[in-house]
Amino acid sequence: MQKRTLLLSALLFGALLFHSCTENSTDQESMEAASPSGDVLVAFSLSADGRPLYEVSHKGASVIKPSGLGFDFKDQPKLMNGFEVVSHAVESKEDNWEMPWGEQREVENVYNEMIVNLKETEAPNRALQLIFRVYDDGLGFRYHLPAQEGVDELVITDENTEFKLTGDHDCWWIPGDWDIYEHLYSATKFSEINAISKRDHPNLAQTTIPENAVNTPVTMRTAEGLHLSFHEANLTNYSGMTLKVNAADNSMVSELVGSDRLGAKAKIGLPFSTPWRTIQISENAGGLIESKLIVNLNDPNKLGDIPWFKPMKYVGIWWEMHLGKSSWDLASGKHGATTENAKAFIDFAAENNIGGVLVEGWNTGWERWIGFEDREGVFDFVTPYEDYDLEEVVRYGKEKGVEIVMHHETSAAPRTYTQQLDTAYALMQNLGIHSVKTGYVGKIIPAGEYHHGQWMVRHYRKVLRTAARNQVAVNAHEPIKATGLRRTFPNAIAREGLRGQEFNAWASDGGNPPAHLPTVAFTRMLAGPIDFTPGVFNIKLNPWKENNQINTTLAQQLALYVVIYGPLQMACDLPENYEGQAGFQFIRDVGVDWEQSKVLNGEVGEYVTIAREERNSGNWFVGAITNEEGREITINFDFLPSGESYEAIFYQDGSDAHWDDNPESLEIVKETVDASTTKTIKLAPGGGVAISLMK
Ligand code: NOJ
Ligand code: CA
Repeated sequence: MQKRTLLLSALLFGALLFHSCTENSTDQESMEAASPSGDVLVAFSLSADGRPLYEVSHKGASVIKPSGLGFDFKDQPKLMNGFEVVSHAVESKEDNWEMPWGEQREVENVYNEMIVNLKETEAPNRALQLIFRVYDDGLGFRYHLPAQEGVDELVITDENTEFKLTGDHDCWWIPGDWDIYEHLYSATKFSEINAISKRDHPNLAQTTIPENAVNTPVTMRTAEGLHLSFHEANLTNYSGMTLKVNAADNSMVSELVGSDRLGAKAKIGLPFSTPWRTIQISENAGGLIESKLIVNLNDPNKLGDIPWFKPMKYVGIWWEMHLGKSSWDLASGKHGATTENAKAFIDFAAENNIGGVLVEGWNTGWERWIGFEDREGVFDFVTPYEDYDLEEVVRYGKEKGVEIVMHHETSAAPRTYTQQLDTAYALMQNLGIHSVKTGYVGKIIPAGEYHHGQWMVRHYRKVLRTAARNQVAVNAHEPIKATGLRRTFPNAIAREGLRGQEFNAWASDGGNPPAHLPTVAFTRMLAGPIDFTPGVFNIKLNPWKENNQINTTLAQQLALYVVIYGPLQMACDLPENYEGQAGFQFIRDVGVDWEQSKVLNGEVGEYVTIAREERNSGNWFVGAITNEEGREITINFDFLPSGESYEAIFYQDGSDAHWDDNPESLEIVKETVDASTTKTIKLAPGGGVAISLMK
């Protein structure tokens, strides 16, 4: 209650500040805005032919050289040059807010906003507004296309937002795929980006990479050690943005995901505001993770409190399908989603402080899933298979204090899903099910639409809204990327949108290498919460998968509960693999909802250590992970409140641990620590450490 009052007064104070530094002029010299500390500076200008240009510097050093803005349209002249500045204004703003669940409770949202109003000097004299928000951790900018006489809608054939880099930076990237983000990251110089070489991965059900472009977030490090990450915020009613690479001059230009049916990139009604184009800037790698720029650029919570969703750990009838122990479809003769199996998972969850059970393969349709061209009208989202008594399973779960996580695999047939949306979500509300995992495996039907295009962006939003009306939170797989919408719609809890744990079970390329997650933490994770599904204890996957394994140590699997953030955290292994395992205590204990988070150290693609304080309990948890290099890390526990002692349990790599040779070697050490403690810990190659600190 007191917190709310504090927040309210902070908001009011912010509103008072609102007009504190308004300038208004058309003087080109002064068209700039600095971040509150002054470190980040954005300057706006017009080129000789009247093209809008922006440039960015950090502590006086150039970060983005003058870069052009503008659009190409179908049946309309392009909106690109011939502009004059009508007015511009800079205002200081403060709009602090509270996360209903998240990596932290309080979020500081302080920035300076510059609005530039432009007009074409010649007919049709169209107007264009550019809005820049400058923060200490980077900036966002967007186009606003005002209503115009005689033009109701525009068909965009290209958005031409340039990002002119200052050098051939180190880059961590995945290809600009219009259909899937489930690629391994490459670490190359900017000039060596080759997205085309990533086409046709044998384990991807759909992939469309038309250009040498990268997807966002794409993270870079300059020769001077400055870290940058490019992404977008509040992707609404528009296509996802990839960034086309021009190695010759170290520049990128926006390349929107298209629609063959539209014959263009996006169709917008006027007035229209594009998503924010974002650049996170930090002197160290960890600062990128701590940055809240992406969520801050989204609109405030539109749902209010959602007490029906509580962050939780979950187990499920899932890994057993990926291992081939059981199957989704009934016809296989080894159906996983039986009433009996679900009840066994509920018992296991109830005994181990785990709140949810996911049941995949519960509904009819799986006989015509992967590999079928015609997938319309196949899946049914309300009809269980005959050996699965949905109501009884939900009832049994309630008796044990465990929630069922619903599962909807759409097989990328969104029209079929949309037709059943209301009944499917009403069923969940009636049963008291408050979360759903959705999936979109396969090429989108109808042909010519792509997972990351405008048509699907609208579909995913419709699902989110329907879910909210029925008090359901959505964890989407094969989703559109996260762009911070969880601030506005806190039922957007988590998503996949990366190469998850499942690839370790069946990928023909050897699974996720040890560098994968130390890269994900500084790339994909900047977009938002991840459903990675950690917690495999049977690292070599015996006896199920002879040619696959997890490429981390067991200690790293535990550390992931802290490092890779998500308000749903799966303990994905088969329950029998947790039996008698001392390390499982960490999964029982670890929090899922955080008061605050601190990145203690890290380098992109190499290692990272994160400490998080659990909400309400005051317990802390620490996770550190490393790539294939073993290393020593020193943890200073000065993040703990001074004068208080904690019972620390270290779940660390055994002295002989190694991700390939001896991955399950785990050592558990107990010790009392306080704010003055410093400890050096050895991480094995592909290893990690998980620490619980309980009062
Ligand atoms: C892909 C998802 O990522 C995976 O978790 C799920 O088991 C399958 N689709 C089936 O829906
Ligand atoms: Ca997937």
